[in-house]
Amino acid sequence: MKTNADTVVRKEFDVEEIRAQFPILKEQVHGRPLIYFDNAATGQKPQRVIEAVGRYYATINSNVHRGVHTLSNLATEAQEAAREAVRRHINAKHAHEVIFTAGTTASLNLAAHSLGQLLLKPGDEVLISAMEHHANIVPWQLACERHGATLKVMPVTDSGELAFPSSDHLIARSSDRTRILAITHVSNTLGTINPVKELIAQAKKRGITTVVDGAQAIAHLDVDVQDLGCDLYAFSGHKMYGPTGIGVLYGREKLLEQMPPWQSGGEMIDQVTFEKTTYAKLPFKFEAGTPHIAGIIGLGEAVRWMEDQDKAAMAAHEQVLLHHATKELLTIDGLRIIGTAKEKVGVISFIVEGVHHYDLGTLLDQQGIAVRTGHHCTQPLMDRFGVSGTTRASFAPFNTVEEVDVFVAAVKKAIKMLR
Ligand code: ALA
Repeated sequence: MKTNADTVVRKEFDVEEIRAQFPILKEQVHGRPLIYFDNAATGQKPQRVIEAVGRYYATINSNVHRGVHTLSNLATEAQEAAREAVRRHINAKHAHEVIFTAGTTASLNLAAHSLGQLLLKPGDEVLISAMEHHANIVPWQLACERHGATLKVMPVTDSGELAFPSSDHLIARSSDRTRILAITHVSNTLGTINPVKELIAQAKKRGITTVVDGAQAIAHLDVDVQDLGCDLYAFSGHKMYGPTGIGVLYGREKLLEQMPPWQSGGEMIDQVTFEKTTYAKLPFKFEAGTPHIAGIIGLGEAVRWMEDQDKAAMAAHEQVLLHHATKELLTIDGLRIIGTAKEKVGVISFIVEGVHHYDLGTLLDQQGIAVRTGHHCTQPLMDRFGVSGTTRASFAPFNTVEEVDVFVAAVKKAIKMLR
C-alpha cells in the first residue's frame, strides 16, 4: 500500500496551524516545552475531539438504543453518526460492519475467540508474524490451546521486513492446514509497513481467513478495507486522535454473520428465555452492554477532524521528520536503529551501546521529551533482534524539524552523562 507521503507535498503545509489545535502542546514538562514523541503509544487529541466528548456529557448524556425520550434518541443519533463516519473513513460497505469495542486488544480478542470457535479444529494452524504486538499473539495462542491448533510464525529479516520465500508465495510458513492469517499492517516497534494487500490476496486464494491489526496504520495510511480485501480489521480510537477505551473491529458482513458472539449480556440479544437466547442483528450481536458512548462520539469527531486535514501533506511531513531524525541519529557513535525497512511510518526504535534505554528515556523526560522505552509489547521481536528493549520516538503531524533537532541534541547530552 502506498503511504500518503507518496503524493505530492502541499508546499504550504502549516505545522503551526496544526499545533494550535492540540491544547496539550502548550504544556511544559520539567520547565521545558513538551516535545511529544510517543504518538505510537497514544496520540494527542485536537480541541474539537475534547469538546465533542464534553458536549455529549454536558448536553445529551443518556443511554443509547433503549429510551423513548429525547436525550436517548439524540445520543443514539450521535453514536450512529459516528459509526457512519468510521464506515466512510475505512470504506466499509455497510455501517453494521463496524463493531465498537474497547480498543484494538478487545477487537483482536473478539476475533480470536469467535473465529477460533468458528474455524479451528485440532491440527489446524494460525499464522502470525514475528513482528506482532502481544495483542496479536496471545489471543491466538489461547485460541490455539482451546482448539488444539498450532501457532506458526512468519520470520522477519534483519531490516525488519517480512521474509518472503518468493513473490508468488508471500505467506511463508503457511500450509494446507492454515485457517487464519493474523498480521499487523504497521509494526509498532519497527515502523515497517507490511504489504498486507498482497498477503491477503494470496491468503484468499488458499481459503485462509485474514485478520489485520491496524492499530499503528490507521493514523498514517489511507485504510480502505474493501481495497485491502481483509476479512477483519482492528484499530483503536486513541491512536487516531480519538479517546482511549474505544476501538473498532471491522468485519465483512457475511463472516460477521457466521461468527458466534464473544461477550454476552444486554444489547446483543434478540430474545432471551432460560432455555435459549437468540442474538441481535449486526453490529449489536457483538456489542454487549452499554457502550462507551462518549468515546464513540469522540472517535466520530476524530474521524471528521482527520477528513478535514490534508492527509497527504501530513503524511509527507511525517516522512520528512522520519528521514531527518534517522539521518541525525545515525551520526551518533554506537547508535543502532532497529527497523530499517524501505516502507516505514514515522517510528524510530534505537539502541545505544553502553546505555540502557530506560536511563536514556528518563534523561530525555528531564528535558521535556516524551519517548517510549522497553520492549513495546513485542518481546519475541526483541528476542529476534537480540535486545531487551529500545528507545522509540514516534512522530505526529504536529511535530517539527526543530523538535527533532532538540531531541537529537538531548540524546547526545544524555549519552555523555550515561557513558
Ligand atoms: N501498543 C502501544 C505502543 O506501541 C501501546 O506503544
